[in-house]
Amino acid sequence: MVISLKKVLISDEIDEKCVNILKKKGVEVVKNTKLSKEELIAEIPKYDGLIVRSATKVTADVISAASNLKIIGRAGTGVDNIDCNAATQRGIIVMNTPGGNTLSAAEHTCALIVTMSREIPNAAQSMKEGKWDRKKYMGNELNGKTLAIIGLGRIGKEVALRMQSFGMTTIGFDPIIGGDVSSEFDVEWMKLEELWPLADYITVHTPLIPQTKNLINDEVFSKCKKGVKVINCARGGIIDEEGLFRNLETGQCGGAGLDVFVQEPPTDFKLIKHPKVIATPHLGASTYEAQSRVAVEIAEQFLDLSEGLKLFGA
Ligand code: NAD
Ligand code: MLT
Repeated sequence: MVISLKKVLISDEIDEKCVNILKKKGVEVVKNTKLSKEELIAEIPKYDGLIVRSATKVTADVISAASNLKIIGRAGTGVDNIDCNAATQRGIIVMNTPGGNTLSAAEHTCALIVTMSREIPNAAQSMKEGKWDRKKYMGNELNGKTLAIIGLGRIGKEVALRMQSFGMTTIGFDPIIGGDVSSEFDVEWMKLEELWPLADYITVHTPLIPQTKNLINDEVFSKCKKGVKVINCARGGIIDEEGLFRNLETGQCGGAGLDVFVQEPPTDFKLIKHPKVIATPHLGASTYEAQSRVAVEIAEQFLDLSEGLKLFGA
């Protein structure tokens, strides 16, 4: 398949390498990250390619206005902000760069686990306030603790490998990746019901789909050890936010590391302000290395398609 690619709109903050690679091959590129939805709908008919990160919502009405659009690229993993059904109905290709930010997201997850175990954000903040409170911030070793990983894909696997170096036992569940595969990276596969009572920490690395929405909820917390800690660096809503708050209040949940939220940016900061929560504003992929990789990958994938090359090195 060959796609004629003459004019591409980049509507979110994406590394300049993306612009340069496309321009070098004669593609006209317009970068405008300030478009309102109405402005995007008015502009989009001029383009045959659109590249976004997560801020632009490529909704059905944007797609129906995109009379010349042939391809939408997401410089990142999830395509939650693109109406893929509407695009498919119009014959528009949607592509992403799923591996480009894996290591950054995995490292961010590990950072949340490590800082949570020692209450580093609260302790650091107390020192900035001029305090020297050594008793208040007793932590726990990670060595010998059990980390349950829900979703054993790209990021789940990298988190497992890194946390094993802290002496954690890694167990996990994935409906597609079975025990034969997970044992290769030392994760003992088990059913969710078996895994909940064993976990000291639970980290989720699934897409947000109906089967994973509110996957960790009041009922699950009740099956876990008292004080279990949870981490969500995948998508807001995989951990039920209301249920999490309730379980933090009772101490059934001993802490949460959250990079993603049901509403982004959040309007209600009740959960985020809880003293047992470490929150970051969707920073999993926000490293220079990951942003450079996804920018290059999406530009190269666009060019491959315009040059009739098969995708994904096939
Ligand atoms: P991946 O596709 O490689 O892995 C996801 C895994 O989840 C798959 O193996 C799949 O089989 C599994 N899964 C699907 N349904 C499941 C279920 N019901 N229970 C358990 N497992 C299930 O994806 P990835 O690249 O590892 O990304 C994981 C998540 O992280 C995605 O939601 C992605 O959007 C998100 N992400 C977030 C950031 C960030 O900035 N915070 C960065 C990159 C990716
Ligand atoms: C992704 O899906 O790639 C991440 O959420 C990070 C991002 O939005 O860039």
